[in-house]
Amino acid sequence: MTTIKSFRELVSDDGSHIHRRIFTDPELYELEKKHIFAHTWVYMGHESQIEKSGDFITSYIAETPVIVSRAGDKSIHVSINSCSHRGVPVCRADQGNTRRFICPYHNWTFSNKGDLISIPQERKVCNKPDKAALGLKKVPRVETHHGLIFASLDENIEPLIDYLGPMAWYLDCLFDRFDGGVEVLGPPHKWLINCNWKLPVENHLGDVGHGPYLHGSLLQGTPAVEELEKYGHNIVPKPGHGLSVRLMPEGTPDDQCMLGMDGIAGMDLEVFEYLKESHKKVSERLGDIRARLKPLCYTRFCSF
Ligand code: FES
Repeated sequence: MTTIKSFRELVSDDGSHIHRRIFTDPELYELEKKHIFAHTWVYMGHESQIEKSGDFITSYIAETPVIVSRAGDKSIHVSINSCSHRGVPVCRADQGNTRRFICPYHNWTFSNKGDLISIPQERKVCNKPDKAALGLKKVPRVETHHGLIFASLDENIEPLIDYLGPMAWYLDCLFDRFDGGVEVLGPPHKWLINCNWKLPVENHLGDVGHGPYLHGSLLQGTPAVEELEKYGHNIVPKPGHGLSVRLMPEGTPDDQCMLGMDGIAGMDLEVFEYLKESHKKVSERLGDIRARLKPLCYTRFCSF
């Protein structure tokens, strides 16, 4: 029985005021898992993190642990990391390469598509197990956008590109800059933050204003402060998506669009020339506005 009588108690009609309870209420969090995370697209990782057959990374959809794997035919699979026998996690690494996931408890063995391949001492099992029905539970929808892998627990969800809508225009600023796309280098940095999931989302979605102050030890006294104050924007292309950007004004020299108003200061000339050439290519590919627009961070239940 819910104790939340009305969501109107928690958010003002125009959305400008919220009750602090939305960051602390465990009952609301349970509702969010059921009504949001079970029915939306969730970012899993980048294709370059699982480039080769057998590569895998592990992640979560809300609190459900998943394995994101590249099979021998190069297809991408997202499977729930819970053995179909007694629920033990079959993969305990953050990333790696394997042809098989072997459950440590009784060694049921699964392919990197999640199919159950073998059961030790299968002939001793009383009822003949139907291995075809006992694979790892699949996350039913997996789609990619310029290398970004998204998955959804809702098999009837709209296609990813429709879901992203105008957000795709902004995502492409970072992920469609060159013909070959972009590549994630090295393992990702991960932080465990002891807070409600909406706090970091809000920080990335709608708070370009904190830059000069919270990060003042880095920025105060530099042109970056003026740049953020004059040209920083929070953008919500559609509800649920958001980003912070810096949009330099028309006529800004290339190096300042690319590197900010600090321009070339302190940069190795060879690196600078490379970046300038890259910027020219990006301008030709994405157009003038996006050449002047620098995304600072994105939010779609995840941060880049
Ligand atoms: S729990 Fe995985 S093999 Fe038994």
